[in-house]
Amino acid sequence: MSSVKKIAVFTSGGDAPGMNAAIRAVVRTAVYHDLHVYGIYRGYDGMVTGDIKRLEVGDVANIIQRGGTMLKTARSEAFRTPEGRKQAYESLIAHDIDGVVAIGGDGTYTGADIFSKEYKIPFVGLPGTIDNDIYGTDYSIGFDTAINTAIEAVDKIRDTADSHNRLFFVEVMGRHAGFIALHTGIGSGAGAIFLPETDTSIEELSDILKKSAKRQKLFNLVIVAEGNQNGDANTLAKQIKKGNPEYDVKVTIIGHLQRGGSPTAMDRVLASRMGHSAVQSLLRGESGVALGIINDKITFTPFMEAVSKTKHLNKDLVRMAEILAM
Ligand code: F6P
Repeated sequence: MSSVKKIAVFTSGGDAPGMNAAIRAVVRTAVYHDLHVYGIYRGYDGMVTGDIKRLEVGDVANIIQRGGTMLKTARSEAFRTPEGRKQAYESLIAHDIDGVVAIGGDGTYTGADIFSKEYKIPFVGLPGTIDNDIYGTDYSIGFDTAINTAIEAVDKIRDTADSHNRLFFVEVMGRHAGFIALHTGIGSGAGAIFLPETDTSIEELSDILKKSAKRQKLFNLVIVAEGNQNGDANTLAKQIKKGNPEYDVKVTIIGHLQRGGSPTAMDRVLASRMGHSAVQSLLRGESGVALGIINDKITFTPFMEAVSKTKHLNKDLVRMAEILAM
């Protein structure tokens, strides 16, 4: 018999499609195990201010298909202070909460690590970010939806790029990591992909363009991660235009479109598995860990290991993308 009787769930940091599916799985699994379950609204801010409500099975009906997060999300300054965390502890204790599921990214995990050590309340984390840059899991909740959204947008851009014979630089999200850009680039058949992790120069792109022109190959699509080492899409586009004035160059920044929308089947299933397993792991006495799925198996990584280690891009995929773009 587990000592855990009342658990809470919250979402924090940037929202990601599939967070609602995870919340639903947490609530329903908790109710199945006769636990009381509470929703904390607006992330750590709601924990500090006590914005906490009991959730029943019906409260999470009809949300599995919705983007965003029904619990809202925020980046909390108050929780960074010891006084804020003390208030958060008092809010949890007021509801006798003895286990918490935290859905978010690195910042969420860092807060959960500090707090669960200070106040000895068990926390289990779920990776919720479109960036897929969390160590300790093959995929994070929201990534699959984001790349599908980006690819759909890029396909449309390609139609007009083809018609006008224009060169488009399409910027996708990824402040620190190139997972979205790499997968969008491969999936949309881009001519080149610029990533935060690689050092592709504008000269290399110029060379590729010249070679393509010689072979009369249609080259009209470059995918750029927003955190690209050598500049964002606007910077690269300007540089190319300067060196190759004959090109009709355009820039599209897909932006927050990638964060919204109905989650894909992959994200719904991933989030459901993770939310379900998070409750079971709290019941087993897990704490201070980030849950992941690696090679289709549920895994656990200590919060600080998940935060401090970098999830690397698959170099074979990077190389493959270059070969396929020939
Ligand atoms: O969710 C991750 C991410 O989309 C990054 O790729 C992006 O840089 C960032 O969030 C933007 O976040 P916000 O709009 O919340 O500042």
